[in-house]
Amino acid sequence: MKSIRLAVIEDEESHFKLIRRAIVKGLPEADIFHFRDVGEFFESFQQIRPDIILVDYQLPGINGMEFLDRMRAARSEAPIIMITGQGDEQTAVQAMKAGAADYMVKRPEFFLLLPGSIEREIRRKKERMWAERSLRASHSFLEIANRHSAMGPLLDEFAAEIQRIAGCDFAGIRIPDDEGNVVLLACAEQGEGFPEAPSPHSLPGMCVNIVTGAVDSRLPCITKAGSFYTNDATRFFAEMKEKMAGSFCLHCERLGYKSIALMPVWVKGAIMGLIHVGDHEKNKLPLETVSLLENAGMVPGSAISRVQMGEALGRSEKRLGFLSARLLQAQEEERKKIAREVHDSIGSSLSAIKLGLQLRVDMLGKGALTAESLGALVSVAQSALDEARRIMADLRPAILDDMGLLYTVTWLCAQLSRVCPRIRIEQVIEAEESDIGEHLKIVIFRIFQEALNNIAKHSLADRVEVSLINGQGTLELIVRDNGRGFDGFAVSGKKKSEKGLGLTSMRERTELSGGSFSVKSSRGMGTIVRASWPAEKG
Ligand SMILES: Nc1ncnc2c1ncn2[C@@H]1O[C@H](COP(=O)(O)OP(=O)(O)OP(=O)(O)O)[C@@H](O)[C@H]1O
Ligand SMILES: [Mg+2]
Repeated sequence: MKSIRLAVIEDEESHFKLIRRAIVKGLPEADIFHFRDVGEFFESFQQIRPDIILVDYQLPGINGMEFLDRMRAARSEAPIIMITGQGDEQTAVQAMKAGAADYMVKRPEFFLLLPGSIEREIRRKKERMWAERSLRASHSFLEIANRHSAMGPLLDEFAAEIQRIAGCDFAGIRIPDDEGNVVLLACAEQGEGFPEAPSPHSLPGMCVNIVTGAVDSRLPCITKAGSFYTNDATRFFAEMKEKMAGSFCLHCERLGYKSIALMPVWVKGAIMGLIHVGDHEKNKLPLETVSLLENAGMVPGSAISRVQMGEALGRSEKRLGFLSARLLQAQEEERKKIAREVHDSIGSSLSAIKLGLQLRVDMLGKGALTAESLGALVSVAQSALDEARRIMADLRPAILDDMGLLYTVTWLCAQLSRVCPRIRIEQVIEAEESDIGEHLKIVIFRIFQEALNNIAKHSLADRVEVSLINGQGTLELIVRDNGRGFDGFAVSGKKKSEKGLGLTSMRERTELSGGSFSVKSSRGMGTIVRASWPAEKG
């Protein structure tokens, strides 16, 4: 079947023959339908559905302008090229205004120019239709984006809409997880589905390549925007098998998909995931559809990232709420503890001094006061002073102000060794005291102190590695132990009253001071606490 359906309405047989000869020569892919008058044309119009119409301006009983009116009323989208024996400029302008795509005068060069003009108008029509489809797709994506603030329903609706636009059996949205697996998060499918393999991307695959931007853009299956598409997957995968010798993920092939496309989902110039489309038939994904989804695919990217940010904000607000409640409680507990300590230590020493002094005043009255009896009070006063120093050191570590953070880190390690002699500690410090802002020093001190407290309290480790490194624009503190580790889910699932404050407050201290925090741990595999901040510009 030829690819262009051309209707020619021309009453003069000799003219039509010349036109036909020009078209057969210059545009062999055109199928020509000839009509001698407009009535004949309208009778078959719905049946032949022409891609383009060539019409003589002066036909018996109707002129070009009237013909254009009738075509508009019939809601035809086919471009119309008007031809005329003696053209005048005014009629040409009028015809173009009324919707004609071109207006050509039958001069000698007309037959030479005609095939090019037809081709151009068909191309324009395709571009116009593509732009309209693309606009409609963006519009429907925007509507979906506006409707949802939760990730699940948002992705589900996007997937369903993508499937509808592509007209394929399967459409899905994939986003990489922390391990780099490009996980299928939502899909819409018709007929046989797309069951997820247990670990679909432990092997290198096109999905991973697209997400990491690692595709060779010179390959014919890769578009300018970095999407992959094939309309004959069997052939593509056969070549892939030969080249990669089994070390390439061929999941789509096993499921029988013949037409496959993978289009990146962009957010602010970075790829955050991909749109995955597939069909069990060949040739279901023309480049046009791929570029349409690439174009409209900008909307899902920003919507997904907006929802991700909203969810992260919600989580952070919840954490902050929990933390501030716990902080108030901790503050109260701390006050009670200080009051008890002041009462039990300094308070009792001062009471002893007061009683002793009263006794000495009496002795003085009786003339029995001796130097030894006064001397005994000095050692009580000294122990009150020592207690006061200890309490102050707990409240604000003077060592941090006096000796600096780097020394204090070493000092805290020595304290841990004293409390847990079985633990061997290795330290790597590659930072200068002057590189670390004053406000960060107390933050790092508290995080480090809590990480070591946790090791002493929970880890049963015998080896700890500590590093504080300022390099490549980042100041990073890492505390790693080889202890029994813990299950993060089990800890976060604990009741509020049973939950410790340490991990949460380490995270909040880091994030409130502009850094990022992570804890990696699993049972039997030790624990890694990592806090990092962008290095301060000198
Ligand atoms: N280094 C570690 N090794 C093993 N388990 C750990 C380690 N760090 C934390 N945990 C586990 O994580 C839990 C939460 O730690 P977190 O510091 O938040 O609370 P806590 O130490 O129990 O109490 P708090 O810090 O408020 O005194 C601990 O109860 C412990 O089970
Ligand atoms: Mg703790």
